[in-house]
Amino acid sequence: MKLSPVGVFVVLIGAVAGILIWVVGLIALPNDSTHRRLADNPPIQSSAANQPASNSTSGTSTGGTGSGGNTASTGGTVQPPQQLVTLPQKDPSQINLIDTTMPGYQIFEQTCAACHGDKGQGGVGPAIYAIGQHWSEAQITAFVEQGRGMMPPRGGLSSDAQVQQVVQWLAKQTG
Ligand code: HEC
Repeated sequence: MKLSPVGVFVVLIGAVAGILIWVVGLIALPNDSTHRRLADNPPIQSSAANQPASNSTSGTSTGGTGSGGNTASTGGTVQPPQQLVTLPQKDPSQINLIDTTMPGYQIFEQTCAACHGDKGQGGVGPAIYAIGQHWSEAQITAFVEQGRGMMPPRGGLSSDAQVQQVVQWLAKQTG
């Protein structure tokens, strides 16, 4: 069988276009927007109704094991809660952050406050001024490490050690 030159040409164009699209995707998409990332990181569903009330009864800070109803597929590790804690809106002047001499507080100010407000009152990101009342340190770590939606993995920090410090401080904030 003999292909016509036109047929060969069309096939070549197709192949080149395919490679181009692949290269553009590889170069232009930021790392954390790949399909793999999205699959790890499903967007939060807004329907609060069918979610197991995410361990958020006030005062139960016994955490460490709970994972907001995500049947752990990666054995043993704490999963980030699926449902955001929705803290009541609070005027920044009414928020008392504690232990602001901890190194984690400085990291918060430098990196997280841009989105979460300098008192954790919320901004682009939700309020987190009392997150320690609802999520365990391990849960906050899992969430921050992974990032979600508009929030970059590690909250934009470059090392796990920094995440650990900021979370140690954050976990103490109980409102
Ligand atoms: C670019 C903006 C941005 C930065 C920087 C950022 N966050 Fe976030 N954060 C968000 C957004 C947006 C969400 C909500 C994500 C969602 O809708 O699922 C969020 C959610 C959270 C939550 C869950 C809040 C809740 O109500 O359950 C925590 C905890 C958190 N961020 C901590 C941090 C920490 C700690 C840092 C700094 C290391 C940080 N974030 C930096 C945007 C940001």
